[in-house]
Amino acid sequence: MDTSSTSSSAEGDNFMIVETEEEEEGEEEEEGEEEEKDAKDAEKDENNQAHKTEEEEEEENQTAVKKSKPASAVGFFSGHGRDIYYYVGQEISIYESIDSYGAVMWPAALALCSFLDNDRQEVNLLGKEVLELGAGTGLVAIVASLLGASVTATDLPEVLGNLTANVMRNTRGRCRHTPQVQLLSWGHNLERTYPKSVYRYDYVLAADVVYHHDFLDELLVTMKHFCQRGTTLIWANKIRFETDLTFTQNFKKAFHTSLLAEDGDMKIYMATYREADGERAGSGLQVDFNFPMQ
Ligand SMILES: C[S@@+](CC[C@H](N)C(=O)[O-])C[C@H]1O[C@@H](n2cnc3c(N)ncnc32)[C@H](O)[C@@H]1O
Repeated sequence: MDTSSTSSSAEGDNFMIVETEEEEEGEEEEEGEEEEKDAKDAEKDENNQAHKTEEEEEEENQTAVKKSKPASAVGFFSGHGRDIYYYVGQEISIYESIDSYGAVMWPAALALCSFLDNDRQEVNLLGKEVLELGAGTGLVAIVASLLGASVTATDLPEVLGNLTANVMRNTRGRCRHTPQVQLLSWGHNLERTYPKSVYRYDYVLAADVVYHHDFLDELLVTMKHFCQRGTTLIWANKIRFETDLTFTQNFKKAFHTSLLAEDGDMKIYMATYREADGERAGSGLQVDFNFPMQ
């Protein structure tokens, strides 16, 4: 795994980064309480900054960001573990943690959020049932919810706490459908926990779920499970490794695909159900025996 690619700002080169003094000040407050004389405290003393409550800090941070950028700009500024993003005309605060890959923002999430926000004619999520695979920090799920979708964000157990907190904090009172957060481990008990006859989605979203890991086959199985007739799968990924290219080839074999957007190595694919050979021939060799007969 290329850990350098987990840096939230390093790969988000299409997005405006706004750094403020207040952001550093927010870091100093916590450390100042522990009376640690580190470099940031020294900076604080030099600037003769007054101690502020957490609420005052937050308000000041947000004001600073708003003042620093045009209202229409999509961007973020990075505080210690907290980033502010602007999509769907809303401010979205995302907490990251260093505990797992899923707890930091990946570049495809930003690319997908921009696409969904800017290309609503092409992909209209209003009132749609949406599933997100590998939701991580939850930004894509939040943006889809703000766009009016009924969203289920899924990930591994260790990610769900931070994911739930981010999703709920940013959607409470702002969305017509309260988003759900659920456990989904790729390839595991899919038909038992998410039977196809019950769990039908208009859209399946996935951002940067393909990287250097051992579950690419399980991921493709999961995508196939949820991408039924009538479902559109939107997969955004930065293509980094040889194995990513192999996955992309298998993805194209599994689905009818088209490239929605690309920016260098960043690709956003749209995919729809492709019937299996056995199905097409009517030979009875259909792989998924649980698919409802029509
Ligand atoms: C690179 S992160 C991307 C996170 C988020 N989509 C983003 O773009 O910021 C990959 C995500 O897939 C999840 N993931 C990895 N392996 C998984 C598996 N076997 N089953 C379910 N989720 C998995 C990770 O927990 C993580 O949230």
